[in-house]
Amino acid sequence: MTDIPATAPASEFWEARYRDTDRVWSGRPNDLLVREASDLTPGAALDLGCGEGADAVWLASRGWRVTGVDISGTALERAAVHAADAGVGDRVVWERHELGRSFPGGSFDLVSAQFLQSPVELDQRAVLRDAARAVADGGTLLLVLHAGWPSWQTEPPFDAVFPTLDGVLAELALPDGGWTVGTKETVRRPSVSPEGVGGFREDHVWRLRRV
Ligand SMILES: C[S@@+](CC[C@H](N)C(=O)[O-])C[C@H]1O[C@@H](n2cnc3c(N)ncnc32)[C@H](O)[C@@H]1O
Repeated sequence: MTDIPATAPASEFWEARYRDTDRVWSGRPNDLLVREASDLTPGAALDLGCGEGADAVWLASRGWRVTGVDISGTALERAAVHAADAGVGDRVVWERHELGRSFPGGSFDLVSAQFLQSPVELDQRAVLRDAARAVADGGTLLLVLHAGWPSWQTEPPFDAVFPTLDGVLAELALPDGGWTVGTKETVRRPSVSPEGVGGFREDHVWRLRRV
């Protein structure tokens, strides 16, 4: 893998990360998206930091009209191929944005951000607040973030500040009475290192509904 310094501009870092290899992610939708979104009525969805598009394709295949957003053009090109191969190319539009600096227009019945975390510059507070603002009345904000390094990661590859359940809610600064909290939970799942060492990792999930 190309050694891109953590001081590189975010677009350069992520573009190199995707260009370095034919495929970065598994191509399967995230488990917590599937768990939390399966019972929602399809409408318009926004997938922030969609990467190679597996979540957007899964949503589209369930009847959602999806806007997938990422900072990397290479990731978005792969996502579009995935959507076309899955027969849902006409249900997804792809937009390149550096979130924190620009954000798609419109309002959405579901705004999902799965592991929108970065070793390089990302104004998470601004993105979270923009994400909440983009949720339509009666719509859902679904956030999933790693809560820490995997248990087998004895030497973290870079300095990271991980979110807390209450910290993210505080950063969202949602108006009193305007939202209900459906899920606010830390989920532990098995995780295996590239060298085959078994362990676990923990993720936080928030499912919030705009009243
Ligand atoms: C850890 S990956 C998660 C990808 C995907 N959501 C998933 O769960 O497989 C983070 C994604 O966010 C994107 N990203 C990072 N910073 C971004 C920014 N400022 N604006 C838009 N996308 C960004 C990266 O290109 C990458 O695809």
